[in-house]
Amino acid sequence: MTKRTPIIAGNWKMHNTLAESAALIEALKTAGNKNNAEVIVAPSFTSLAKVAELAKGSHIQVSCQDVHWEDKGAFTSAVSPVQAKDAGATHAILGHSERRSVFGDTDEILNKKVAAALRHGLTIIFCVGETLQEREANETIAVINSQLENGLKGYTAEDLKGMVIAYEPVWAIGTGKTATPEQAQEVHAAIRQFLADKYGKEYAEATRILYGGSVKDSNVDEIMAQPDVDGALVGGQALLADKFARIINFN
Ligand code: PGA
Repeated sequence: MTKRTPIIAGNWKMHNTLAESAALIEALKTAGNKNNAEVIVAPSFTSLAKVAELAKGSHIQVSCQDVHWEDKGAFTSAVSPVQAKDAGATHAILGHSERRSVFGDTDEILNKKVAAALRHGLTIIFCVGETLQEREANETIAVINSQLENGLKGYTAEDLKGMVIAYEPVWAIGTGKTATPEQAQEVHAAIRQFLADKYGKEYAEATRILYGGSVKDSNVDEIMAQPDVDGALVGGQALLADKFARIINFN
């Protein structure tokens, strides 16, 4: 079986001034990385260039939290993949549940954003996840398969090489409620099965699948111990240098 390099990613969402972003990245640069994880932070667009500049030469990579699907144009307030890349992003989070539910990113829109990220060589962190209602109706796997199927429509394993999937149950995001390690493992295994069926076993075995949703210093170890959990996408605790450092250095 392929040994997958873990990824610990922090999604800063709509937090941090420039000064706060700078202080956080500086603290993380010296926080250690005992698992040789790929460490990624996703600042808001105002801090992206600054954080990328400060991260240069360190082990930390920088992601944007979204991109528009066009390269430029009359799209007031949006940021294009060209601009994100120019500011120093190497990765793009796409399909975060807050983008889906608050800003109306549909599978069709996300499919265009996938195209935009691929066009400019941004590594995609593609988020999927079910609501509580969907989980209670036993629709979890069907919902996630459909998000993957429709969001990634039209692309081959070769096109999507290196893409990262993040499983983030909507009911666990920012709620303090974490999926149990067993719940996470069950969905991660199903996602890997989807990838195997669609893109082949080799692709599925190589793809990192992150868990997100109230990951904390106190629960990261048991989550990371699951065989199909290859990393974490962290919100709240990614803003606290000491907490995120402990998550990076999971046991
Ligand atoms: P949370 O956010 O860790 O605050 O639950 C996770 C996410 O939205 O990526």
